[in-house]
Amino acid sequence: MFHKRKKISVIGSGFVGSTAAHWAAQKELGDVVLLDINEGSAKGKALDLFEASPIEGFDSMVKGTSKYEDIADSDVVILTAGLPRKPGMSRDDLLATNAKIVKDCSEGIKKYAPNSVVIVVSNPLDAMAYVCKQVTGFPRERIIGMAGVLDGARFRSFIAEEANVSVKDVQAFVLGGHGDTMVPMPRHCSIGGVPLTEMLTADKIEALVQRTRTGGAEIVGLLKTGSAYYAPSASAVQMAEAILKNQNRILPCAVELNGEYGMKGLFIGVLCKLGGHGVESVVELKLNETERAGLENSMKAVKELVEALEKIQY
Ligand code: 2OP
Repeated sequence: MFHKRKKISVIGSGFVGSTAAHWAAQKELGDVVLLDINEGSAKGKALDLFEASPIEGFDSMVKGTSKYEDIADSDVVILTAGLPRKPGMSRDDLLATNAKIVKDCSEGIKKYAPNSVVIVVSNPLDAMAYVCKQVTGFPRERIIGMAGVLDGARFRSFIAEEANVSVKDVQAFVLGGHGDTMVPMPRHCSIGGVPLTEMLTADKIEALVQRTRTGGAEIVGLLKTGSAYYAPSASAVQMAEAILKNQNRILPCAVELNGEYGMKGLFIGVLCKLGGHGVESVVELKLNETERAGLENSMKAVKELVEALEKIQY
């Protein structure tokens, strides 16, 4: 019997999009379509990546295109289109420009890949996931913002480096919006199953929390011409893999809340179970006072951003 491969479409062939295509193809998650309004960029990068497949030995077809019809029947769409920030800019400064871009892409997704699960990566993340939801009208399990996996990975890298242990043994996650108000959760971090609070001093943990909050800006400050892409694209592809392989992974993702944490209609980072339908469920945690205050502060910041968005003609 003939079994069709899974299909992953990546919209935007910039650094994040093309690197996401790279991870997805190399992991043989399925066939990959790389779409960009700059057709040469999409086709050139896709062809180059396909030509690497005999060397690396992956059986994934990679196709570049500027046509939305080529994303038809995608299982997962990773939406990366939009401008990155420059030094001194916050993710929020990208609001108006990227809202227009994400709106256009979302219209294409709605028309040509109406059954896909969309992973939104464009910034400012939580607001762009909201735009995608407004335009596509997809149910909440199928619009998922990528941020917590990235912020959590940064936190885990810094913890592993500080404690001089394998990154594989570090568990950590981050809740809240993908911005300065994000809420790293040290109480729920562990090294080899041992609570982080027993492994590192409170001062050291606080320094790692701060570095995590400004992790994106740290990279922007170094690159000067754009923002991070290896870890953001790897994060999006880990989420795609969880969905494509129905893994039921517990990962922090930006989803539209429906009463969890006392909030409705707002996209924000929470712990989710990711499986074949997209978001299978939201894992609502019992927060202590500091964590709750942090999350509420973050929800307020995202809410203000969405309100600003609603005043813009995009
Ligand atoms: C980051 O945190 C680009 O927002 C992304 O690096």
